[in-house]
Amino acid sequence: MFETLQPAPADKILALIGLYRNDPRPGKVDLGVGVYKDIDGRTPVMRAVREAEKRLLASQDTKTYLGLAGDTGFNAAMIKLAFGEKADHSRIRAAQAPGGSGALRLVAELLQRTRAGATVWLSDPTWPNHPPVMRAAGLQVRDYPYFDAASGSVRFDEMLAALKTANSGDVVLLHGCCHNPTGANLDAAQWAKVADVLLERGLLPFVDIAYQGFGEGLDADAAGLRLLADRMPEMVVASSCSKNFAVYRDRVGAAMVMAKDGAQADVAMSQMLAAARALYSMPPDHGAAAVRMVLEDAGLKKDWETELEGMRLRMLRLRVAFAEALRRQSNSDRFDFVASHRGMFSRLGLTEAQVERLRTEHAVYMVGDSRINVAGLPEGGMDDLAKAIVSVLD
Ligand code: LMR
Repeated sequence: MFETLQPAPADKILALIGLYRNDPRPGKVDLGVGVYKDIDGRTPVMRAVREAEKRLLASQDTKTYLGLAGDTGFNAAMIKLAFGEKADHSRIRAAQAPGGSGALRLVAELLQRTRAGATVWLSDPTWPNHPPVMRAAGLQVRDYPYFDAASGSVRFDEMLAALKTANSGDVVLLHGCCHNPTGANLDAAQWAKVADVLLERGLLPFVDIAYQGFGEGLDADAAGLRLLADRMPEMVVASSCSKNFAVYRDRVGAAMVMAKDGAQADVAMSQMLAAARALYSMPPDHGAAAVRMVLEDAGLKKDWETELEGMRLRMLRLRVAFAEALRRQSNSDRFDFVASHRGMFSRLGLTEAQVERLRTEHAVYMVGDSRINVAGLPEGGMDDLAKAIVSVLD
């Protein structure tokens, strides 16, 4: 039966994990998959999460089913984290999902059940898993221009012009903060203009917020999402705890829907849960339970915020140091945008061939589109890395 099946192409980001691991060269540099790393290249369990896990182990006396929505305390806490205190919580619902990708899929399934074959507009470029997840649910995908590689900034006028051609009922996926893969983000005035167009054209915002706390801070990173929540009648959100709680492999995320009123929100939630039942039934509990304990306990929450803020500031310092090293080594301001970008990623603007040379000649790993994970930059080896990058430029 399987003799005619062709092998699936490897995921471009995840394939780098294996390539890097099997590279015996000392001094290799991993700027690939989006995982936070400390100065020693480790991705530790966060202090508050570890403490919550200890308490969980001591207090959990059953592992019986929780239900399709998972941990309801987690869901309430995640709504608060994304939407803040001031939003109209009576018309927002959340379902715990297996990671950010699971949340995206659950929202996509809700959209498909609402409007079969609806068009979802994605930024060009976007996270490579966005199109397959949307298509897997039956949705159509279109692009809006987003990134100007030459200046490292957002092509905002072209983005707006494209969105103005969208049809009523289309969905617009926006990165809530820390755009992946570019690191170039909308400012407050731009979010407001996007909201104007969404309202004018009758478009539904779909915010993917996978890096809250990695850009400008926990609340600042949700400012765009909250602005939309304030102005739009309806919206959908996929959030992830993989990065900001460092619970990557535990698969912790939330799919959220804001409807016109509570009754419509309940109906939408019931459809998300029916979709979950058909996809995986119930989400895994452990990581979400630990996150819920952190968010519900003032002491643990404070400690988590402090550790997260330390991670954010470290990435900012690395950005500045790397941009300075690139300036020194290239004698140009070509890479200055790295310092003004925010979040875990920047796209350097190298060709696939240059990225390949960096890997084979210098043991420097980045995604083929020249996306770098800022957290992987070597604090003590910035000039060596910048020199290697400059050496592969034509
Ligand atoms: C990334 O973009 O590197 C991460 O979100 C990991 C992934 O699943 O691709």
